[in-house]
Amino acid sequence: MDREKQMKEQDKRIDRNLKKIKHKLIVMSGKGGVGKSTMAVNLAVSLSGKGYSAGLLDVDLHGPNTLKMLNIEDEKIISDGQSMLPIKYSDNLKVISIAALLDQKDAPVIWRGPLKMGVIRQFIADVKWDDLDWLIVDSPPGTGDEPLTVAQIMKGSKAVLVTTPQEISLMDVRKSVHFSNKLDLPIVGIIENMSGLICPHCYKKINLFKSGGGKKMADSMKIDFLGSIPLDEKIMESTDSGIPYFTRYKDSAAGIAFNEIVDKIIQNEIKGGK
Ligand SMILES: Nc1ncnc2c1ncn2[C@@H]1O[C@H](COP(=O)(O)OP(=O)(O)O)[C@@H](O)[C@H]1O
Ligand SMILES: [Mg+2]
Repeated sequence: MDREKQMKEQDKRIDRNLKKIKHKLIVMSGKGGVGKSTMAVNLAVSLSGKGYSAGLLDVDLHGPNTLKMLNIEDEKIISDGQSMLPIKYSDNLKVISIAALLDQKDAPVIWRGPLKMGVIRQFIADVKWDDLDWLIVDSPPGTGDEPLTVAQIMKGSKAVLVTTPQEISLMDVRKSVHFSNKLDLPIVGIIENMSGLICPHCYKKINLFKSGGGKKMADSMKIDFLGSIPLDEKIMESTDSGIPYFTRYKDSAAGIAFNEIVDKIIQNEIKGGK
């Protein structure tokens, strides 16, 4: 089969798969290290815990972290001859990451654009996602090949933007807003992560990276503000040990803030109201 025909066949498989997925959210940011993967992983776990069938697609090909964050690092993607079977984290949550195709954990993926686009297309066309209520996509920072490919292929998807409060992060996430606008990718809203730290000794709030910048930016750009999540060292510790923090520690300040964000997303996307 020539290449053009192969691509057309693949387009058909992409369409067929996407028809079975109700809500598709791409978690994006301008910068790395702001908590995208943490949000994407916890969002997928939280939705699946509420009884929705969910998928988590990690397209951060150079820095795939989701398997580690879910403590399923050693799982591999298997093939049934025709399609790839995603990793089953639980009955309601399926996961795909390039990390599950690499033989060595520390081996870098050194690929240019076309190769990256090719594997992302396969992750959508050839993975047996079946019926999903939600597909959450974790992307690398910025507006490069990976989010571009996903946004172009996954018709009907929407963006969830993550930023930290300081100007240096906001200036980059504004680019993500313009990127989404250019691609006609609706924005569900923006999350301000690492928004203040409660001192464990005196319980006063320390605004390590300032606070409130995400809300101000959302207001000025007419985007929904989804909420702010404080800094909490237990989030980092949980991430390192593969425990989805926010569903486990629902009553912490960060847990309460996160769960309100999830409820807002469900409300906006499923129940169609605000
Ligand atoms: N609110 C928070 N408080 C403390 N640590 C956090 C918080 N959010 C994320 N982290 C930690 O910050 C690091 C970067 O987060 P990550 O989700 O990998 O960011 P990104 O995907 O944007 O690069 C991780 O170690 C994560 O555990
Ligand atoms: Mg990440």
